[in-house]
Amino acid sequence: MEILRIDNLTKHFNGVTALDGLSFSIEKGTINALIGPNGAGKTTVFNIISGLIKPDGGAIHLNGIDITSFAPHRIARSGIGRTFQIIRLFSGMTVLENILLALCNKRHESLFAAILPSRAIREAEARTAEKALELLELVNLFAKKDARARNLSHGQRRLLEIARALALDPSLLLLDEPMAGLFPETAAEMRSIIRRLCDCGKTILFIEHDMKTVMDISGHIIVLNYGRKIAEGAPHRIRNEPLVIEAYLGGGSHAAA
Ligand SMILES: Nc1ncnc2c1ncn2[C@@H]1O[C@H](COP(=O)(O)OP(=O)(O)O)[C@@H](O)[C@H]1O
Ligand SMILES: [Mg+2]
Repeated sequence: MEILRIDNLTKHFNGVTALDGLSFSIEKGTINALIGPNGAGKTTVFNIISGLIKPDGGAIHLNGIDITSFAPHRIARSGIGRTFQIIRLFSGMTVLENILLALCNKRHESLFAAILPSRAIREAEARTAEKALELLELVNLFAKKDARARNLSHGQRRLLEIARALALDPSLLLLDEPMAGLFPETAAEMRSIIRRLCDCGKTILFIEHDMKTVMDISGHIIVLNYGRKIAEGAPHRIRNEPLVIEAYLGGGSHAAA
């Protein structure tokens, strides 16, 4: 079953064509990679899906609902979570506080606090704390819960960002270069966490330059070049696709990733 469908997306930035009639769809419960040379338009796709920028043309459907004009918070509440190429955390706060803050977005306690008995509020708070610890467990950061985010390693910061993106319980998770800058051991951990999330029922779309990861964990790969889809399919097909090899080996003027 299709969870996300992108139809004919177009986006220009001051005369630069970032996306040029891009269409693809994602099946529920699968791991999908979005790849392509630097500047191909991958992050722009994420920014449009998550509502941070609006396309010049085209549409996005999530579970059959047109979300193209939704504001970012509404898209997040509709079930799309994301991380950023450049990590965004509250670095002075602890790991646990970072998660609790993300979870507070989900609760409407400010609204309900006035009408609920304090026991109910305490119970809601206990459930939130429990959920936060569960999320930290999921990304192997439980032991670091009281550390300040700024004192984490780069890999741990990436994991914390994923846990934050999971706070609203998204059905579709967008990860922008989750392996970037990771040591091999942490990259392996990240791969197994992405698989675990898929096993838990999440659908994953991730941008990645590390081909080992892409070929290892994705069931489906979409290849962009100059804002267009040049290939799409299972890893074994993409690996042998001449257009892809050419795009990566310097066929285009963009720097190969
Ligand atoms: N906010 C923006 N303003 C102007 N140009 C942008 C903006 N975002 C992206 N671009 C341009 O759009 C193209 C695609 O960028 P991007 O989506 O970041 O590529 P990728 O993530 O594949 O490296 C690039 O030429 C980039 O310079
Ligand atoms: Mg990018």
